[in-house]
Amino acid sequence: MIKKTILITGGAGFIGSHVVRLFVNKYPDYKIVNLDVLTYAGNLENLKDIEDSSNYIFERGDITDEKLIDELFAKYQFNGIIHLAAESHVDRSIADPNQFIKTNIFGTVNLLNAARKHWSPDFDDKKFYHISTDEVYGSLGDEGIFTEETAYDPRSPYSASKASSDHLVRAYNHTYKLPTVISNCSNNYGPNQFPEKLIPLVIHNIKNNKAIPVYGKGENVRDWLYVIDHARAIDMVFHNGKIGETYNIGGNNEWKNIDLINTLCEIMDRRLNRVNGESAKRITFVKDRAGHDLRYAIDSSKIQQELNWKPSLQFKEGLEKTVDWYLNNEDWLTHVMDGDYEKYYDKQYHKR
Ligand code: NAD
Ligand code: DAU
Repeated sequence: MIKKTILITGGAGFIGSHVVRLFVNKYPDYKIVNLDVLTYAGNLENLKDIEDSSNYIFERGDITDEKLIDELFAKYQFNGIIHLAAESHVDRSIADPNQFIKTNIFGTVNLLNAARKHWSPDFDDKKFYHISTDEVYGSLGDEGIFTEETAYDPRSPYSASKASSDHLVRAYNHTYKLPTVISNCSNNYGPNQFPEKLIPLVIHNIKNNKAIPVYGKGENVRDWLYVIDHARAIDMVFHNGKIGETYNIGGNNEWKNIDLINTLCEIMDRRLNRVNGESAKRITFVKDRAGHDLRYAIDSSKIQQELNWKPSLQFKEGLEKTVDWYLNNEDWLTHVMDGDYEKYYDKQYHKR
């Protein structure tokens, strides 16, 4: 018997695919509907191992398509939504913000409207869970940490679009009593991340003897969390998070970009039987990202104390696993790095 039907948006992307896999495997009595339009960042190969599961359905479609979303709500009678679909890459948002506004803001409103329409007046046993980012809180100096009370101060088109969607989710909770919950997470890393993001890009470039592009002086700091630990946190917030609340999720694991890149170089030298120091020779300092946020750091004590979540993996172990995954999944990389990605890469890095 099906206990719940859950809509997961963006389930073919990096984090979404790990969330879909966790839910499909862990909850055989849930029906999981994955809605994804399959942009350059969405890839059904990420879900090959579970695509034939009897409790899993894939729907290809756009969250900004009002008619489609209305039809899907009518067809499946969702009990819950875990909303991950988004444009997610800061550099692309700087180059061309409009798609970020459309997907991240209008797409979210469209889902909120459909949930409100189809769930009213009885919100019992319903939950609209919006996945967001620590970038909405802005940028820190050497000191300080983001808590759930930190005022929003987004500084890129990407983070502004995510902040806007968070505000709308809270507004629907406040105004219409829609049962919503939000989590804001730090930088994820691990298998299946599109190679435009720092860690897979560095691994790929080292492997292929290409320059390793470091923005500015490499002194920006990010807090890194293994993607499967984020998926575990999402499971806990979806099931036990309190309606109307926000939960910060992070790895308590701050790294300067240049230190992280040097660590990756050392791991890659060992894996590729290169002389220690060989890969680091490829480090190339390039023009900084416009408006580059200096430091993110997240206080995740609320989710740790209230929901009993904590990261399970040490960073070095997670990085080694991640490197091995990319080295063992050459086909995956070749398939995602099609002509469009090559064009993006040339524009992003060879203009410098
Ligand atoms: P991603 O770019 O890897 O995947 C996004 C997915 O959304 C893709 O499968 C894409 O096809 C799909 N999508 C995009 N536009 C869509 C649309 N209009 N309709 C339907 N599907 C669409 O992103 P990710 O890194 O997995 O991030 C997922 C979510 O988590 C995002 O909301 C992001 O803001 C948030 N987040 C990411 C990180 C991180 O470090 N990657 C950290 C915190 C929060
Ligand atoms: O903090 C959470 C956010 O983390 C998510 O909301 C975003 O979706 C996700 O993309 C990520 O954003 P970042 O901008 O922090 O990630 P990115 O991998 O693009 O960059 C990480 C850091 O590395 C950042 O300081 C910029 C730097 N960088 C990045 C690239 C791609 C480089 O120095 N060189 C590069 O080529």
